[in-house]
Amino acid sequence: MKFQKGFYLGAATAAHQVEGNNTNSDYWVMENLPGSAFTDPSGIACDHYRRYKEDIDYMKKAGLNAYRFSIEWARIEPEKGRFDEAQVEHYRDVLTYCRENRIEPIVTLLHGTSPKWLISEGGWKAEGTVEYFTRYCVYVVERLGDLMHYVCTLNEYNMGLQMEAIMQKVYKKMGLNLQVGMKLTTDMLPDEKKKMLRAQAEAFGVEDIMGVHTFMSQADEESDAFLLHVHEAARNAIKTVRPDLKVGATMSLHFLDVLPGGGEQAEKIWKDEFSHYLPVIKDDDFIGVQNYTRSIVGPDGERPVPDGAEVTQMGYEYYPESVAGVIRRMAKDYHGEIFVTENGLATDDDSRRVEFIQRAVKSVQECVEEGLPVVGYLYWSLLDNFEWQSGYCKHFGLIGVNRETMERTPKESLWCLGSYAP
Ligand code: BGC
Repeated sequence: MKFQKGFYLGAATAAHQVEGNNTNSDYWVMENLPGSAFTDPSGIACDHYRRYKEDIDYMKKAGLNAYRFSIEWARIEPEKGRFDEAQVEHYRDVLTYCRENRIEPIVTLLHGTSPKWLISEGGWKAEGTVEYFTRYCVYVVERLGDLMHYVCTLNEYNMGLQMEAIMQKVYKKMGLNLQVGMKLTTDMLPDEKKKMLRAQAEAFGVEDIMGVHTFMSQADEESDAFLLHVHEAARNAIKTVRPDLKVGATMSLHFLDVLPGGGEQAEKIWKDEFSHYLPVIKDDDFIGVQNYTRSIVGPDGERPVPDGAEVTQMGYEYYPESVAGVIRRMAKDYHGEIFVTENGLATDDDSRRVEFIQRAVKSVQECVEEGLPVVGYLYWSLLDNFEWQSGYCKHFGLIGVNRETMERTPKESLWCLGSYAP
């Protein structure tokens, strides 16, 4: 069954993961340090910066009508206070090409990476970042806002707390038994880790070896609140210059599948992942839902993936209906538009992706039928791309990319997704 008229159906990417040669960004610095923990450096990525037309053509051919991509701050403002008009023109071309092909661009202003200079200035814990980021956002929407409708300020500003929880497990494995609320200090770290942090700090010209704060660093309560504050400031500034734009942010959210007696634990997790942000985001025009799997929650908290369950290349449980679970839960607390801005899986078996899309789409259509305000569904990702620390070995794409030649190969799943287009 096709989606109803007006529904946005498409795919998503992020600049650093597909464009290539993002040389003025913080990740470029970290990926290229000797002994870096990255599996691969991003390098040329998918060369999407030059090949975006070919990639948009595939979406058009499949019948998709929306494309979420991000504008790279490190390109627009490669040095503090120096804005590059030629890069604005590049993104104007991308936006125009989408529009010419009747593909709605859904624009993210910050997806993971920041200019290197921002990190040297204290990064995502420094008060100055509020002003720098807001200035960049206003600069972009003043020049390109005429080609946009939906703008996401920050991608997954709620991820920091989730990263912290993951890191706690890593520290435990390293034999560092940190109590809740206890801060990690340099002397607790193994020498190798210290060496790496020192090299990073030197590369950014930061004195404190624990002072490199990228957007995707783990967060504590204070930095979590700070990112929300950055979002709010940027949203309000964008609204002042372009009140016609729909402004929101995207969030990483699990479907909390609650076992008998797990209700209290689930509410606690939901509060950490979502509802404590509500006082600010209730005024957003939309929320971007990004979901990849479910979490089973019992009276004792989150359970591991059930024995024997199918898992994706990321180790997540294969559970296509989880996206609908998040939509239903969110709709109880939030009454603006809900936009699925990322949902998908990494696999080399495209038939599993086809089934995933069929089931996920069906579950979203059920939400629409129930009258929930879901306005779009964007699969992650359009291309097999740079999956951060994991490099190029995880394959999320609807389109394969030959790492030697950059040749594109559309997969069956691309046509499958397109078959639901309104
Ligand atoms: C991020 C993407 C990432 C994807 C798959 C999302 O949380 O926004 O950048 O590639 O997950 O791991």
